[in-house]
Amino acid sequence: MHARQQLRQQLRQARQSLGQELQRAAAINLAAHLPDHSLLQHASHVAIYLAADGELDPHLLAEILHARGKTLALPIIHPFHRQQLLFQRYQPGMPLQPNRFGIDEPKLDKSALIPLQELDVIFMPLVGYDLGGNRLGMGGGFYDRTLGGFTETQRPTLIGLAHEVQRVPALPVQPWDVPIDAVATATQLIHCRQSHH
Ligand SMILES: Nc1ncnc2c1ncn2[C@@H]1O[C@H](COP(=O)(O)OP(=O)(O)OP(=O)(O)O)[C@@H](O)[C@H]1O
Ligand SMILES: [Mg+2]
Repeated sequence: MHARQQLRQQLRQARQSLGQELQRAAAINLAAHLPDHSLLQHASHVAIYLAADGELDPHLLAEILHARGKTLALPIIHPFHRQQLLFQRYQPGMPLQPNRFGIDEPKLDKSALIPLQELDVIFMPLVGYDLGGNRLGMGGGFYDRTLGGFTETQRPTLIGLAHEVQRVPALPVQPWDVPIDAVATATQLIHCRQSHH
């Protein structure tokens, strides 16, 4: 657990130090290559996130997907199951409000919720990843709890978005960690070899 914490701190620092210009370029390049990938051309419902803490920023990607007619969703913190996520329909520019972590989210509207099984792709933020599909998040267990109740075939395609500096040779994995199917960086989409257990 200590090793995970230390790695988290180190990797968060690395992505926080990337600088505005590099972040801008990464967001532009991501939006330039990813929408044409077959995984996305076949998707109609796609969840994204709003970048914080130096995360690779998908907002330009979201605008392009929206313009291509995809239905977008943002995660919001579940009002009762407080460490799980719900996904709610999102249109770029719609009004948002900060949640208890200071991250913007749409105001809960039950009629706009999208059941997880209806999502084709979830773009996930991450702190670290390896090519086996292992993912280190911010440490809340939100995505793990939200996805853990579904089998691998029920789950949407999970794509982590990351800067190159967030890659490590092999992450320490816990039994509850839900693996990702692929990682997209500013320049490429990498399918993960499912070498986790
Ligand atoms: N399916 C689950 N059921 C119960 N507890 C869980 C589950 N998944 C994770 N947790 C708990 O959440 C805590 C944080 O998990 P972990 O360190 O894997 O977070 P993370 O993957 O970095 O975060 P996130 O999923 O929010 O990106 C752990 O203490 C773990 O016990
Ligand atoms: Mg985890």
